[in-house]
Amino acid sequence: MTAPTVLGIETSCDETGVGVVRGDELLADALASSVEEHARFGGVVPEVASRAHLEAIVPTVHRALAEAGIRMADVDAIAVTAGPGLAGALLVGVAAAKSYAVALGKPLYGVNHLAAHVAVDRLAHGDLPQPCVAMLVSGGHSSLLLVPDVTGPVTPLGQTIDDAAGEAFDKVARVLGLPFPGGPHIDRVARDGERDAIEFPRGVVRDAPYSFTFSGLKTAVARWVEARQRGGQPVPVADVAASFQEAVADVLTARAVRACQDQGVDHLVIGGGVAANSRLRALAEQRCAAAGVTLRIPPAKLCTDNGAMVAALGVLLVDADVEPSALTLPADPALSLT
Ligand code: KG4
Ligand code: ZN
Repeated sequence: MTAPTVLGIETSCDETGVGVVRGDELLADALASSVEEHARFGGVVPEVASRAHLEAIVPTVHRALAEAGIRMADVDAIAVTAGPGLAGALLVGVAAAKSYAVALGKPLYGVNHLAAHVAVDRLAHGDLPQPCVAMLVSGGHSSLLLVPDVTGPVTPLGQTIDDAAGEAFDKVARVLGLPFPGGPHIDRVARDGERDAIEFPRGVVRDAPYSFTFSGLKTAVARWVEARQRGGQPVPVADVAASFQEAVADVLTARAVRACQDQGVDHLVIGGGVAANSRLRALAEQRCAAAGVTLRIPPAKLCTDNGAMVAALGVLLVDADVEPSALTLPADPALSLT
């Protein structure tokens, strides 16, 4: 049999993503984003996101098919993010995927958003090593996972006990007067700053070597900025951004490398929106090389939410002969990886 062609649909947050993957080849990755509609609220507004998905889903599917140069009938299976994510937003993608699956008579695969963030790396760097340690860092999640096989259940090693890494970026950006979502803006302005200008705290979770905490760091940055403002001094935005970013990258990479060493696993995959961060990528590269761990991070464009990641995981499910989902597949905002 030739490599399966899978259409992947992602609508868990504010991105309507539709990707087409044939085997290990990315044929199309169409995206519509409602991010600008949320910017003035400083965070994603669920009802606004759902409405935007509803308007964008069909045109984005058509754009993906055109980009791939295929017809709907050439698609062998439909994969869709079933969770975790915003309930109303997920529902739009799941309903669309079911409709296409029924209309075409093709199998439907509900996938986990977090597993898709890991699986997408195969499009850039080939099949995923098994087992691997995966670090997922996005606006909603920060977790370390032991992944024996990305098509099956995974073992959580640790996660954030408060804010997600991306959430910390977004909140600190707000304190610095940078636009939402803040991660890419902090990354940009930090290039002109000194990462050791300010010693921000590295949060440690007692008795949980693979867990993260970012709320203390976020508060420390806010206090530091407030103190400057109260003193009538200018805020060195680039230095604050660079020093904050360093604290996040330091903690994330230290925990991830330690997890690999403790688990005896020599491959680390980093995924999710924060994996697009240039300092995180550089520091991870450096520390993995020193520890003899092979690092894989998808290209920045595939780190943030997209449809290609869903299609990439869909192909693995088809290839592994996993039973397709029933048409009663629910959208599950709290879908677990285990
Ligand atoms: O994976 P993603 O697109 O959506 C979720 O599943 O949450 O991640 C979005 C998060 C946002 O918090 C955004 O600020 C952050 O990823 N992000 C970044 C960068 N690009 C996106 N954070 C740091 N540096 C970046 N370059
Ligand atoms: Zn995501």
